[in-house]
Amino acid sequence: MRTLRDIDQLRSTLQEYRQRGQRIALVPTMGNLHAGHLALVACARQHADIVVASLFVNPMQFGPGEDLDGYPRTFSADQTQLTEAGCDVLFAPAASSLYPDGLETHTRVHVPVAGEGLCGGSRPGHFDGVSTVVSMLFNLVQPDVACFGEKDYQQLAVIRKLVADLHMPIEIIGVPIVRADDGLALSSRNGYLSAEERSTAPLLFGTLCTLRDALERGDSIESTLQQGKNALYDAGFVPDYLELRDASLGPVNKTTRQAVLLAAAKLGPARLIDNLSVQLPSGDAATAGH
Ligand code: PAF
Repeated sequence: MRTLRDIDQLRSTLQEYRQRGQRIALVPTMGNLHAGHLALVACARQHADIVVASLFVNPMQFGPGEDLDGYPRTFSADQTQLTEAGCDVLFAPAASSLYPDGLETHTRVHVPVAGEGLCGGSRPGHFDGVSTVVSMLFNLVQPDVACFGEKDYQQLAVIRKLVADLHMPIEIIGVPIVRADDGLALSSRNGYLSAEERSTAPLLFGTLCTLRDALERGDSIESTLQQGKNALYDAGFVPDYLELRDASLGPVNKTTRQAVLLAAAKLGPARLIDNLSVQLPSGDAATAGH
């Protein structure tokens, strides 16, 4: 695997692959890799001849007071994992390469609607930061296909909309959430949890499963979500949001069948997110509103 920090080197390396007619896949990451990221690399391998991973802790997507400085940085372990996973190129630019004049005056990409509410509501500017850096990575790598995890469900929706609206010829693939044996969705932020918090953390997914079962039985959406929030508070979480949306993140109505439960909750120092799809029953059993 070649590790490249320089934009010109990246461009010339990828140009050679492209001239040979090889298909390129991109896996954007912020490092501190776990099995969830390796599933993205495995997916990329299946869809392309050349797999490029990027590793960049993007300052533009962190708000004031968020964990930019403390975000785990494990570069050499990440390099080893990517090599073993069969990645061909690791692009790991410095912030000064992607944002040579700093963040303030840098062009920002804003994806309306998809980026509003949920994580976009509680982390203002977050998805502008994600859309901006992903647009830059797409322009630099010009991949045929790019793989993103479904844990960041809203991020995936934002990126699909970005690519559609800007007519980027890139196939976006969502990769299912990888969970620990106890159900906790893998995340770099799980490392912030104490041993006690780590044993509580799977209750986030457990709660989503309980709510899904209730909703699929036809229980009222409003009261089910309220019960879920209460259960999270009782377990020691501070819920940020717990919502039911249709699969494209629009509001649920009486005709919605394919829905998704989305949750974000603080547990100690960590903000955890998770989601679970729900097949709503037909008929009057499903009452909209949250
Ligand atoms: O999902 C992430 O790790 C980041 O948001 C991404 C897509 C790499 C952009 O910085």
